[in-house]
Amino acid sequence: MRASELNQRKPVILKVGGSVITDKNNELAPQTQVMNRLAEEIQKANVKNLVIVHGGGSFGHPTAQKYAIKDGLKDDKQILGFAETHHVMTVLNGLFMDALVWHNIPAVSITPSSCMTTEMGRIKFFDETILKMLLRMGFLPVLYGDTILDEKLGFTILSGDQIVSHIARKFDAERIIIGVDVDGLYDADPKVAENAKMYSHLTLQELKKLQDKLGEPTACDVTGGMLGKMTELVPAIEQGIPVTIVNGTKQDYIYKALSGEKVEGTIIERE
Ligand SMILES: Nc1ncnc2c1ncn2[C@@H]1O[C@H](COP(=O)(O)OP(=O)(O)OP(=O)(O)O)[C@@H](O)[C@H]1O
Ligand SMILES: [Mg+2]
Repeated sequence: MRASELNQRKPVILKVGGSVITDKNNELAPQTQVMNRLAEEIQKANVKNLVIVHGGGSFGHPTAQKYAIKDGLKDDKQILGFAETHHVMTVLNGLFMDALVWHNIPAVSITPSSCMTTEMGRIKFFDETILKMLLRMGFLPVLYGDTILDEKLGFTILSGDQIVSHIARKFDAERIIIGVDVDGLYDADPKVAENAKMYSHLTLQELKKLQDKLGEPTACDVTGGMLGKMTELVPAIEQGIPVTIVNGTKQDYIYKALSGEKVEGTIIERE
């Protein structure tokens, strides 16, 4: 197949949860072995037109929380906090990029805070020129949850989950794959409720009915944990883009999801 034909394919968006590539029970704790395994899986799956977005995990969330970055600029002391939060995210991104590039993946990092702004926390401006060119040329663009300049708040936090949903809708993605540290979406937080039941398939209507049951995050997550994730994904599912949630901490689950093989997890579709 010629490159020009490949590039007409709809993109696939993969969110690599901060819960997968870091230990969210500690601060600044990368899971480099997991990053390397995921890089192998991503390389092996060899999906064309793939975009990766990763989360903040134990880098972004605790630092953002310490300086209340999400609430916006209220105090000069937060200025250094903004810089620090952005910086720890570039460090995490660097570690993940290391794993990807050294596994022969032509991954190129796009820093959201340098090409996007928000208004009251919602993406307002995003110059997609670079992302489109990278895809056309066969690169694998990698974005991440980041600190962001906000037209009303001064600054805030932009979640990887919002970026995933935004790009998926803008680029009419074929599908979204969400890697987290649990096996899928449950009727309650499986880390809290022992008897939580996992859903293997949900329609949009079923998801909407369930939203108030989704637990608050147990680990530090300034962007609302699983509930925040689902709220962001609803508009993409409404647009007909299916979402698969899989456990990225388990060997080959992300590989299988990327390759379209059957894998344990939760599929959410419009109907
Ligand atoms: N109903 C639910 N089903 C599944 N997981 C849930 C549910 N409610 C809460 N959770 C929790 O959500 C967590 C995943 O969301 P979280 O935001 O912590 O991870 P993440 O998005 O991968 O991390 P990051 O935001 O750093 O990218 C799981 O670890 C799980 O404990
Ligand atoms: Mg999260």
